[in-house]
Amino acid sequence: MDDLKSKYLGLIAAAADEAAIEDVRLGALGKKGEISLKMRELGGMSPEERQVAGPALNALKDEINSALAAKKAALADTALDERLRGEWLDVTLPARGRRTGTIHPISQVTEEVTAIFADMGFAVAEGPQIDSDWYNFDALNIPGHHPARAEMDTFYMHRAEGDNRPPHVLRTHTSPVQIRTMEKHGAPIRIIAPGRVYRADYDQTHTPMFHQVEGLAIDRDISMANLKWCLEEFVKAYFEVDHVDLRFRASHFPFTEPSAEVDIRCSWEGGTLKVGEGDDWLEILGSGMVHPKVLQNAGVDPNEWQGFAFGMGIDRIAMLKYGIPDLRAFFDSDLRWLRHYGFAALDVPTLHGGLSK
Ligand code: DAH
Repeated sequence: MDDLKSKYLGLIAAAADEAAIEDVRLGALGKKGEISLKMRELGGMSPEERQVAGPALNALKDEINSALAAKKAALADTALDERLRGEWLDVTLPARGRRTGTIHPISQVTEEVTAIFADMGFAVAEGPQIDSDWYNFDALNIPGHHPARAEMDTFYMHRAEGDNRPPHVLRTHTSPVQIRTMEKHGAPIRIIAPGRVYRADYDQTHTPMFHQVEGLAIDRDISMANLKWCLEEFVKAYFEVDHVDLRFRASHFPFTEPSAEVDIRCSWEGGTLKVGEGDDWLEILGSGMVHPKVLQNAGVDPNEWQGFAFGMGIDRIAMLKYGIPDLRAFFDSDLRWLRHYGFAALDVPTLHGGLSK
């Protein structure tokens, strides 16, 4: 019995992990364990022998069981200690500098434009970026042979042979949203439609995807005078100046009659742009009185309703206001550029709170 005891206590002491302990336990106390077998021998002993051997074996069994439990606990402690040592970290170290994202200038300017026109009673409308050539061209009085159609550098969607659906394009301007919104809501209507547009063009001032905001105001007696007032109010609010000179230049668009392109007075002194002073003029948008055919195509009776429309380049006016020289950088996702030109995420532009403060 003493031999068994010192054998198993020795094995327990030497066990290096839980699996080894389990092996020792099975060797001693498992079904075929050495001590279990000895206990089975008790049945064949004389009562006197059994009286001595029984308690002794039971005591041995208890002793080994508690040695096993103690060793298990000790191993667990060691493992925990090791883990704590490995996962230790110095909570007194200074924290890493907080890196917050920024609002892209295009998003910022879209919000600014929306805030200004919302104040004048314009709702925001949206349309699909992939549209049929009917909405993008024909409904806007740009028929198949019209040169404007070629000038737009249009991306056409691929069509499989035998596909009879009307041709679809990546919209070349936000003007198709005029048609879709009038179809849906009729007149009177007052909306702006900011969004992405696409043309196959790429240089310092052109990217194949860019942004426009369309404006549309239709009622019974809306005139060019209302257009001029709205645009003047817009430009003053947007550039955050008290006075701006706007120049309306006669122009041509198939979807407006008469049509005007609008320039703002500015100066380029020392290579920096200043709006509202100087002798230069900068084109910012196209506009005009909505052509009767366009109203008709959208299901609005041109004998009853009339109004103005305009289309402005968002990227363009963002470059002007925030002095961003190269349009392509807008879409490079260069983090240094984004940190420099981006806006704080919680500074939502409002007219009362300041647009770009
Ligand atoms: N759709 C024109 C373009 O992309 C811009 C434009 C001009 C829109 C005159 C209008 C408008 O609504 O009346 O060049």
